[in-house]
Amino acid sequence: MDHFAYRSGILHAEDVPLERIAQAVGTPVYVYSRATLERHARVFREALAGLPRTHIAFAIKANPNLAVLKVLQREGYGADIVSVGEMKRALAAGMPARDIVFSGVGKTREELAAAIEAGIGQVNIELEEEGAALAQIAHAMGRRVDAVLRVNPDVDPGTHAKISTGMKENKFGVPIDEAGAIFARLAALPGLAMRGVALHIGSQLFDLAPLEAAYGRIGALVADLRAAGHAIDRVDLGGGLGVPYERHKVPPSPADYGEMVARATRGWDVTLYFEPGRVIVGNAGVLLTRVIWVKPGVARPWVIVDAAMNDLARPAMYDAWHDFEAVAPNGAQMEANIAGPVCESGDTFAKARRIDAVASGDLAVFRTAGAYGATMASTYNSRPLVPEVMVDGDRFAVVADRVLPETLIAAERVPDFLED
Ligand code: LLP
Repeated sequence: MDHFAYRSGILHAEDVPLERIAQAVGTPVYVYSRATLERHARVFREALAGLPRTHIAFAIKANPNLAVLKVLQREGYGADIVSVGEMKRALAAGMPARDIVFSGVGKTREELAAAIEAGIGQVNIELEEEGAALAQIAHAMGRRVDAVLRVNPDVDPGTHAKISTGMKENKFGVPIDEAGAIFARLAALPGLAMRGVALHIGSQLFDLAPLEAAYGRIGALVADLRAAGHAIDRVDLGGGLGVPYERHKVPPSPADYGEMVARATRGWDVTLYFEPGRVIVGNAGVLLTRVIWVKPGVARPWVIVDAAMNDLARPAMYDAWHDFEAVAPNGAQMEANIAGPVCESGDTFAKARRIDAVASGDLAVFRTAGAYGATMASTYNSRPLVPEVMVDGDRFAVVADRVLPETLIAAERVPDFLED
């Protein structure tokens, strides 16, 4: 459930008509709803309430905006980070370092050192060499860092190939049949406290069965590790729960997920770590845009909006679907293609879509844009970096500025050798 709804025929974010935000801030602009973020954070936490010990680390990559992180910090969430940049954001939002988990297949030595220095709560080791480097750096700093080994369970999660991460041909984790030996070698190193294992098989998952199968394999590995004499007290189950980009396609609910986790992990006697991203923020954001032109096309018109693939990359990258709705629909419908101003045919949000009839100057939104939206934006075509707004009841605030070409140009130099 989200707090974007029509009142008197006008789409509102909570109590704010979206027209007001467009007037004050301009378009395109991401709009987040605080109440929706809080609701999702609570629903997810409550879905896990029956489990003995849990830690929830929001996957910052889904939406790293400081205001968003602050809402989640106030809800008691930690963070799952994949770079020192994300660590800085988590800390700036007031998340304690011990509540932060450091994932990612290419952490540099400098990043590992910075994480240890900050007092990070857990490093998810992706390969033996990284674990050895982590141990060596921690030992040299006179520290002992908590870590888990990310295992690749070789399960097909049934999602888009670009966001599948747990099959053996993917770059992530160590092969599950080598995990026992690697774990044993890492556990012997000074500087490292090997606490358990981690996995994450993919994103936008609509089927719990592959997740349950992967959890089953991890459970068997935990038993093997214990039989080999290792003390295991953490398992990181990753993220991945899908959201309804198309309203009629309903993913498993957090409650369904919680039940499955309870079943799959019964008797494990560990603290379970979770790294949800999309399920927390996806439906808590829309991308508000204005129609520039409606251009005649061969079979149907092109609705050209002022948002583009540089603002919302998902349709161009993954053929992703985002519902498109007029802010003040007039009741009529049209069939159209929807595209942005960027000079590529890939800058197309939808093809042959039945949508609210819109005309030049109308406002509209792309729904479910709170996850992997603004964070993947670029300034391609020297477009401004898209701003972000957060709504709270009847008030709103700009939580990220529109970064203008002037600012971007100011960070560039023409070297002396090009001056005449
Ligand atoms: N943990 C790890 C280790 C991850 O790699 C990811 C996402 C998550 C947690 C959070 O997954 P979520 O709960 O959000 O599914 N840009 C793509 C999605 C990339 C996901 C990358 N990893 C998209 O727009 O669909």
